[in-house]
Amino acid sequence: MAGPKYSATCSAPVNIAVIKYWGKRDTKLILPTNDSLSVTLDQDHLRSVTTASADESYGGKDRLWLNGVEEEIAEQGRLRTCIDEMRKMRSDKEAGDDKLPKLSSWPLHICSENNFPTAAGLASSASGFAALIYTLATLFGLLPAVDNSQLSRIARQGSGSACRSLFGGFVAWQGGEKADGSDSLAVQVASREHWPDLHALICVVSDAKKGTPSTAGMQRTVATSPLLQHRIKDVVPARMKSISDAIQRRDFDSFAAITMADSNNFHATCLDTTPPIFYMNDVSRAIVQLVEELNRASEEAGKGKVAAYTYDAGPNAVLYAPKENVQLVLQLVRHYFPNADFDDTFNLLGAGSGASHR
Ligand code: PMV
Repeated sequence: MAGPKYSATCSAPVNIAVIKYWGKRDTKLILPTNDSLSVTLDQDHLRSVTTASADESYGGKDRLWLNGVEEEIAEQGRLRTCIDEMRKMRSDKEAGDDKLPKLSSWPLHICSENNFPTAAGLASSASGFAALIYTLATLFGLLPAVDNSQLSRIARQGSGSACRSLFGGFVAWQGGEKADGSDSLAVQVASREHWPDLHALICVVSDAKKGTPSTAGMQRTVATSPLLQHRIKDVVPARMKSISDAIQRRDFDSFAAITMADSNNFHATCLDTTPPIFYMNDVSRAIVQLVEELNRASEEAGKGKVAAYTYDAGPNAVLYAPKENVQLVLQLVRHYFPNADFDDTFNLLGAGSGASHR
């Protein structure tokens, strides 16, 4: 049997924030309380691949399979919002050209797979929603008239951090000020080629599912943490500027100092939440101490910082380091955590490209 006539396959990478997004000012539109900035990781290691097809013969409703298992598309859910927004863009295009097939009125079949184990405890929602939006944009023939920043406004409504995965390299999510979210979008700060020497190591400290999901955690922090208000007003705006400058200068010492300070400030707001949220565990904290000690010794010897750590809403460490330091960092982490199951789960990555066709 012939496959569907209208189909597209695209992929999108994972991104890891160095200035963290934590808190929503609008929970439906997913508008953040502060700007954020991330590094997009290499797609060879961590990516979602999505295939979408539209066909009149599919019968009534849209269907979705995630890693081979069919998932319900909830009527009020974020997935529904993203699909509807993309369909609307297609139907606007059809309205302007009556020769176009009416893909916007046909059901969709969507399959999405990650090339990393979901059990690895790494967030897959960013790459997953970015891949979904980019694939639908391709299927609906919206590219390149609609650019990645415009698509990021829709990906944002699936999972906030997903808006940054449309781009490669170094990416800022400008939180925006408008109530309708039209100015809340991602932009590229620098390409991956700008700083190829910067590498990332992911240390999977635990593959258990995190205790407090990010949506619930953010809601609680926004409602109860005075420290978050200080972070939003006084901390993040200056850091967004100084880390962007550090990236432009390829200044690893400044990049590392800001990255570590921001991870610690984010986890401090979690601790300042009532009841408190603990994402890092003893191993996470021991890795912080190891990196701090390495950096201190290196700076005392008149050299720069060796590595930087950052933690999302879970215990796994992401370490950034210049390529020349990666082997040393790997050896030391293995030496000090001989019993940890890092061997299979360490990834050596450069900054990667954004969402792309396959
Ligand atoms: O997009 P979400 O809801 O998965 O939230 C991501 C939050 C952090 O990973 C902790 C920070 C960030 O900016 O990615």
